[in-house]
Amino acid sequence: MEAATITSSLHLLHLPTTLVKPPRSRLLSSNNFKITTTQRNVFRNNCGSLHTAMASDDVVTSERRKMEEEKFDWFSEWYPVMPVCDLDKKVPIGKKVLGLDLVVWWDRNENAWKVFDDSCPHRLAPLSEGRIDQWGRLQCVYHGWCFNGSGDCKFIPQAPPDGPPVHSSKKACAAVYPSTTQNGIVWFWPNLDPKFKDIIMEKKPPFIPELDDPSYVKLEGNRDMAYGEH
Ligand code: FES
Repeated sequence: MEAATITSSLHLLHLPTTLVKPPRSRLLSSNNFKITTTQRNVFRNNCGSLHTAMASDDVVTSERRKMEEEKFDWFSEWYPVMPVCDLDKKVPIGKKVLGLDLVVWWDRNENAWKVFDDSCPHRLAPLSEGRIDQWGRLQCVYHGWCFNGSGDCKFIPQAPPDGPPVHSSKKACAAVYPSTTQNGIVWFWPNLDPKFKDIIMEKKPPFIPELDDPSYVKLEGNRDMAYGEH
């Protein structure tokens, strides 16, 4: 019984593993600590499990520390925006993902789906309420600014033709998120930092081969779900 008490106390004290096993001779020869063979075996076994338990505690602690060091960055990953089957190449579509307002539109000049911040650089009107103009650019519904697939402003209707080229100012550019199409889904990278512009060359969205395999049946769709709101 004494052995069990000691084991339990050691555990509560969280002593370092090197202190778990006291010198055997001192333990067994102590006058006020005489134990039977059975008790000694119990103590041995308990010490063994205690040692193992504390070693695994160390592993858990170091794993936890490692996880804290490698904190997940929610804004450095690919996210699905919409299945292509739900998009219309003739109309820009607004979507909120990760709390970001996006507009998805088809850029026929680059033959690719584009994902922009749903906000016109002029007066912040939603670009998703705009249209695709006859040259395949995204045009804001409010004052008619037109943007190409790189976000460059190509036309400002009110700017005099012989005036300064205001449309070429950086402030006139729409914000473009890195995007790609895979498995019939438009994906975007929710970070406008220019260092992620070519992130697709380094990292691709998760690929699910079955989604492209015609021998599988799949259902596609998207549903808006409110989350993280009170
Ligand atoms: S708000 Fe878009 S052009 Fe003015």
